[in-house]
Amino acid sequence: MNVYLQQLTKKFANVTAVNKLTLHLEDKKLIGLLGPSGCGKSTTLFMLAGLLEPTEGKILFDEKDVTKVETEKRGIGLVFQNYALYPHMTVMENITFPLINLKVKKEEAKKRAMEMAELVQIGDLLKRRPKELSGGQQQRVAIARALVKQPGLLLLDEPLSNLDARLRIETREEIRRIQKEVGITTVFVTHDQEEALSISDKIAVLDKGVLLQYDTPQEVYKNPANEFVAKFLGTPAIVMTEGIVTEGRLVCQGVTLRENIGMENKRVRIGIRPEAFYRKDTGFEVPVQSVEMTGKDLSVYFHLGQERMRAIFFSDERITQGENLKLGIKTDQILLFDMDSGSSLGRV
Ligand SMILES: Nc1ncnc2c1ncn2[C@@H]1O[C@H](COP(=O)(O)OP(=O)(O)O)[C@@H](O)[C@H]1O
Ligand SMILES: [Mg+2]
Repeated sequence: MNVYLQQLTKKFANVTAVNKLTLHLEDKKLIGLLGPSGCGKSTTLFMLAGLLEPTEGKILFDEKDVTKVETEKRGIGLVFQNYALYPHMTVMENITFPLINLKVKKEEAKKRAMEMAELVQIGDLLKRRPKELSGGQQQRVAIARALVKQPGLLLLDEPLSNLDARLRIETREEIRRIQKEVGITTVFVTHDQEEALSISDKIAVLDKGVLLQYDTPQEVYKNPANEFVAKFLGTPAIVMTEGIVTEGRLVCQGVTLRENIGMENKRVRIGIRPEAFYRKDTGFEVPVQSVEMTGKDLSVYFHLGQERMRAIFFSDERITQGENLKLGIKTDQILLFDMDSGSSLGRV
């Protein structure tokens, strides 16, 4: 199913939680809805679910306007952070519950529940009650329950937030697998950029209810539409600083970072991802302030003029505190942003 949000807006008393959001959620894709806490992700999801009525704008499921259609009639599956399983029911009863509600015959309901349980790999846990399951298993039950009605749209609101780090990674891969297997259009809400990058076909980045960018994970990472997106995505974070373009040269803290760039003279904001630095004999020279080993990576801190920066190398590089490092920045990996608006001016 294709889903279209058109100028979707939700105002509460004194906040505009979602502001003129226009988005096309493509058929069978997993769309990550990403942004900091309070940016309007859940509000958007609740409007898609029919749990909140938009102040303005429309929602279409394929050609059908569902803006005023009630939740039960939208054919959606919902999964929340806190599982929301029925504690007194077994896993089997939890999964069949939506079908029994729809008056599907008991045998048929059971058969479909078993299929779903197999799909999410909890087929051996059907007789247990929620409290006898781990968080990851409970979330699988919740996903099975959401899918058993064969909805046209699956909505997941921070489904991994209650899980510990390792289980979060495992479960997100599971969600990805299940989503591809079922082939269901899915919206996955998260404030965790790594999570969004790792499982989404496309990511919608929101801030203060406004859509900043909607593109593939590669694109939002490589070509962020503005400074906010650049800073929100990527760990370790992008290094932000300022500089000037003068006579075709990009100069930062007295160091010429680029020559022959086709841009008029002006002040610019500069973003450099830590992995964009590399060792270069003819590069600019900086003293290494400190070095941090994090397993596969080596974080190297240095000052460029007044600006503290971090570069990332593979941890087999030999770099020590106090030594002078000669660095270059990979071609096309310096991001420039407008001083006032923060909008992207492209890469050099
Ligand atoms: N029922 C409500 N009444 C008033 N304000 C709300 C309500 N729900 C959400 N908000 C506000 O709307 C904004 C977006 O909230 P929400 O969609 O929950 O953000 P997110 O899920 O991205 O953290 C926040 O400023 C929040 O305080
Ligand atoms: Mg939320």
